[in-house]
Amino acid sequence: MNYYLFRIFDDISLETAQTDLEKRGLKDTFVIEDDALGEIFIGGHSKKEIETPFAQLTEKKPAVVNWDEQWSLFAENFHQGKAHIQLGEKTLLLTPGAGFGDLSHPTTYLMLEMMKDTVSNEHVIDIGTGSGILALSALLMGAKSAIGIDIDPASIQHAKENAKLNQLKATFTKTLPKKLPQNNILLMNMIFPEQIIFAPEKLNQYAKTWIVSGILAKEKEAYLAQAKTWGWKPLLEQVRSEWVGFIFSV
Ligand SMILES: C[S@@+](CC[C@H](N)C(=O)[O-])C[C@H]1O[C@@H](n2cnc3c(N)ncnc32)[C@H](O)[C@@H]1O
Repeated sequence: MNYYLFRIFDDISLETAQTDLEKRGLKDTFVIEDDALGEIFIGGHSKKEIETPFAQLTEKKPAVVNWDEQWSLFAENFHQGKAHIQLGEKTLLLTPGAGFGDLSHPTTYLMLEMMKDTVSNEHVIDIGTGSGILALSALLMGAKSAIGIDIDPASIQHAKENAKLNQLKATFTKTLPKKLPQNNILLMNMIFPEQIIFAPEKLNQYAKTWIVSGILAKEKEAYLAQAKTWGWKPLLEQVRSEWVGFIFSV
């Protein structure tokens, strides 16, 4: 089985392309609308080869991945089967798995940099937790509590394994628990279209500060305009390669 991602051609409607792909056997389809790039993507998985006249194939990868091999190639400071994430004098260990977040990506690095002086003695909620790297690092940085959510069940499982490995008490679930602490530091490292779909402003009532990344430098102005509509005021901006991160107050 393979995962597929298609970019819909400009003159084709989303409905036409999605119906066609589903007829050709693409399962569990999802849509990503990248407003900044003005492009729409459809993803899904299939056991059969998928081709369509309505969209361009942009990604195809096997659904079964050798995570040990992947992490040994890309993860930060990988030895004895684990990534070693250095946080001052403390070290977070991460076991290879499906969750994104091994510190090889600049946005994860930006998030940890911005969290350093912010999360100690605070309650933290991590939206799009992946491997759990940010929520677990927050605890090692002195956060009082950490909750991580993700739409991907494999990421939740991976984050839980990492909490156990480090003997840290974090809550990892698909959706947020009904009862939440007040005045949280909210973390969100997701690409711009994913953030729009998530609609983070619904959590402003629980947020003291938002720390975010996943935004390309070329999307910065559009993102700041979007953040204003969410009621966020920029406090800090950091850049690493072509990515930006921000801290906002609510
Ligand atoms: C770029 S990864 C970030 C992982 C990790 N927090 C880090 O900083 O390295 C983004 C994560 O967001 C998750 N995600 C995407 N859309 C989401 C949504 N609407 N709700 C929750 N999680 C979402 C993805 O499954 C993925 O694990």
